[in-house]
Amino acid sequence: MVQGFSREPGVQGPVTEVSREGQRKITFWAAAIALGGFLFGFDTGVVSGALLYVKQDFDLNSFEQGSVVSVLLIGAVIGASSVGRLSDRFGRRKTLGVIGVVFVIGTATACAANGYALLMAGRVVLGLAVGAASATVPVYLSEISPSKVRGRLLTMNQLMITLGILVAYLVNLAFSADGTWRAMFAVGAVPALLMVAATLWFLPESPQWLISHGQDDRARRAIASVTDEATADRLIERARRRIAEEREKQEADPGATGQGTRKLLMPDVRPALVVGLALAAVQQLGGINTIIYYAPTIIQQTGLNASNSIFYSVFIGVINLVMTLVALRLVDRAGRRVLVLVSLALMAVSIFLLGLAFVVGMNSVLTLLFMVVYIAAYAGGLGPVFWTLLGEIFPPSVRAAGSSVATAVNWVSNFVVSLAFLPLASAIGQGETFWIFAGICVLAFLFVGRYLPETRDRDAEQIQHALHARFGHEPDPSSPAAGPRGR
Ligand code: GLC
Repeated sequence: MVQGFSREPGVQGPVTEVSREGQRKITFWAAAIALGGFLFGFDTGVVSGALLYVKQDFDLNSFEQGSVVSVLLIGAVIGASSVGRLSDRFGRRKTLGVIGVVFVIGTATACAANGYALLMAGRVVLGLAVGAASATVPVYLSEISPSKVRGRLLTMNQLMITLGILVAYLVNLAFSADGTWRAMFAVGAVPALLMVAATLWFLPESPQWLISHGQDDRARRAIASVTDEATADRLIERARRRIAEEREKQEADPGATGQGTRKLLMPDVRPALVVGLALAAVQQLGGINTIIYYAPTIIQQTGLNASNSIFYSVFIGVINLVMTLVALRLVDRAGRRVLVLVSLALMAVSIFLLGLAFVVGMNSVLTLLFMVVYIAAYAGGLGPVFWTLLGEIFPPSVRAAGSSVATAVNWVSNFVVSLAFLPLASAIGQGETFWIFAGICVLAFLFVGRYLPETRDRDAEQIQHALHARFGHEPDPSSPAAGPRGR
């Protein structure tokens, strides 16, 4: 028995038979659409190796090099914050198909670039697709998953991100001998075309979206294809009732049930907002993407040549992937809070030592070792657990709005770090820059220790109580922050 297609906030869904065949189908759909996560990883990771050759071809200074990396992130902020409206209006499936097409266009532009300007244009377009995918893929995954396996399917997205990064490094390695950076970018066209094909030929529209747009028959067919007719009818009936109740509430009191974004500012939601946004910022301000995006450039500075540096960065990609798998196993056993705390503590120590290695000029083996420990510490905790917490920390009524604001903050912070890194390193020194990240990890450790409650095995209402307790007050039980069971 697994849970059915319910997406009732904070309430367990009905117990529903999903046939084996149905489970296989859902897993297949999830894997196909997680190609969006793969492309997120690939397109953000591939630039690290390509940069070593692009900078020679186009004679780029350090600001220009940084901008080739970070202009993608501006596109991502725009893509992430604007795609919600599209996917609500036109449906998740069509939106994901369009995102696939945008991936293809961005890839083609970057490959065909004959200079800095066109390369920048291609990277912005890729960014739009990456940002839009990062905000839409989790929504689609959660709407097609039976609730019992939802956590696992959602984390498939982060796994695919790390796999995308690793494949990008391998592609960099494969083409590093002759430095054909265009070929490195071009590989991204394959998963992008597969993503388009999947949305055209076999992915169903999200039943959740179909029901909320009055297309019950199509939703019934999609649900029945993984369960049976009677279950499909029951789930649709239930969803219809919920939609009607929400409409009634909205008509009775437009202020209380208005758009989620406005509700985010209500006092009862504030602890969740503070913790959610802080975690979103910290996941980036701890400096992770300086390593993910610039690993070969940093390794090169320890005295290794370009293709050796790319080789070692593949190793970093493997550690990132493997430790994400470890985190997936630990997250429901050890709990989120302890994983994030241990992760931040180890990140602080290792990036401090990495900084020291540069300041006192240690050999490349030690430098690499500190880098690997730092990546392992991140991937085993803060990296994946941030995305898990994002789905848990906000009260149900503002979950979508809260996650989208936090995702945008995550991309903005990513942008700030990536753009500032190279100029900062040349102004105050590479090692000293790493010490700033170490300082941020220490502050984040103190913040998490004080304000983040454990969320494992807790329902929405208990999480809100625990959050409020950490902020020294009790929530108003009649507010939407308390969730449906708080009433
Ligand atoms: C997370 C971050 C992303 C980073 C990746 C590294 O998904 O959001 O910015 O590149 O982890 O694994």
